[in-house]
Amino acid sequence: MSPRLGVNIDHVATLRQARGGHEPEPVAAGLIAQSAGAHGITVHLRADRRHVQDRDLRLLKEVLAIPLNVECAATSEALEAVVPVRPATVTLVPETREELTTSGGLDAVFLQSMLRGVIRELHQSSIRVSLFLDPSEEQVKMAAKLEADAVELNTGVYADLPPGTDPTDELTRLRTASRLASRLGLQVLAGHGLNLRNVGPVAAIPEVEELNIGHSIIGRAVLVGLEPAIREMQAILREARP
Ligand code: PXP
Repeated sequence: MSPRLGVNIDHVATLRQARGGHEPEPVAAGLIAQSAGAHGITVHLRADRRHVQDRDLRLLKEVLAIPLNVECAATSEALEAVVPVRPATVTLVPETREELTTSGGLDAVFLQSMLRGVIRELHQSSIRVSLFLDPSEEQVKMAAKLEADAVELNTGVYADLPPGTDPTDELTRLRTASRLASRLGLQVLAGHGLNLRNVGPVAAIPEVEELNIGHSIIGRAVLVGLEPAIREMQAILREARP
C-alpha cells in the first residue's frame, strides 16, 4: 500500500500574511486538501508566528475530519499554545529564528532530558508525539527510549543533493533508519524537500507510513490548483508502492 499523504499548508498562511488580511484562509485549503484525499494536514506554529497563527490551529482542529499534525519547537511557549487545541499529533522540530524553513532534525540525544518531560506532558493530554530526526541510528534509538510514538525522518539532505549526485547513500540512510524505527515499534514518517521528481524512492521504502509534503504541493497548487496538485502527488505515491 502506498504511504499516506500529509499536506503541509504553511505556505497558504504565508501568502495571507503577505497582506495581513484573511485571504487565502488556511482552513479553506485544509478542507480542499481533505476532499482531494489528503490523509492529514500539517501546520508549523513558529515562535515568530510568521505564517500560521493560533487562530488557524483552532479553526483547523474544529473543522477537519482528518488528523491535524502541529509542528512546533519543544518550548513551554509553543506547548502552551498547542496543547489546548489537542491536535492528533505534535511533531517536535528544532527551530531558529533566522532559518527559512526547518533545517536539520532534532538532536534527541543531546536534548533527551528536556524531551522526556515534553513527551510526557503531550501524552498526558492524549496527543501523539512524533520527533523530526535526521536518519541516524542513535537518534532513532533515542526516540524509542523516550517513548515517542513516531519519527519523521528528515529527507532534506536527500532532497537537496546537487543535480547529478548519486542519491544511493542518502537513500540507504533513510531505508536503514526506517527499518530500525519500525523494528523498535515507532511509526515511520518522512518529509522535507520532497517533490514530484524526488519523492518516488522515499515513497517506495516499505516502512514509511506517511509523507509530509508542503512546499512542492502548494507551489504546484498556485499553478494548477490545490486539488490537482494533491492528486498528482498521490498518483506518484501509488506508482512508487502500489
Ligand atoms: N516536515 C517538517 C518537520 C517540516 O518542518 C517541513 C517544512 O515545514 C516539512 C516536513 C515539509 O517540507 P516541505 O515544505 O519542503 O515539503
